[in-house]
Amino acid sequence: MIKTKNDREKIMITEKIQNALNDQLNKEMFSAYLYLSMAAYFEKNNLSGMANWMRLQSIEEHEHAMKFYDFIIKVGGVVKLAAIEEPQSEWESAQKVFEDALGHEQFISNSINKLTDLAIAESDHATKTFLHWFVEEQVEEEANVQQIVDNFKLLGNDRSGLFLMDRELGARTLSAQSAE
Ligand code: FEO
Repeated sequence: MIKTKNDREKIMITEKIQNALNDQLNKEMFSAYLYLSMAAYFEKNNLSGMANWMRLQSIEEHEHAMKFYDFIIKVGGVVKLAAIEEPQSEWESAQKVFEDALGHEQFISNSINKLTDLAIAESDHATKTFLHWFVEEQVEEEANVQQIVDNFKLLGNDRSGLFLMDRELGARTLSAQSAE
């Protein structure tokens, strides 16, 4: 027989935290969708290395979403999957795509920080500890994309530089965790 929320002996999170975690799960799914859309844009424009980078980024975002999914279930909450917003599909340049990716990561960092503030306000130590990994991950994510944006700025309108960058970003492989 399927166990329902009411049957569970112990639900470790409040409704408020549960809703906020589900909301973040949706944002991570949207991130996966957005980066997949960016990958498709690069495919269309014959920048297969950048497409590879974005495709792997999309896989990582799906994994982030699944971490929220697993955590909500582990603490006895209920996963509620909302509709995923349609992502943008056109950009004016490769540089603009990465600038938008940086802006999106800053938005996600802000969202994770607010979620952590909520966990602290609710004295929810389990959620706060769970979120710690994401706080650190966001520092990494922002630094990685910032580096790429900085490289674009150095290149200016140098077409051969764009070719080299595409080759470099094409060398990205799945992280050890994702490859498991
Ligand atoms: Fe899951 Fe890139 O934030």
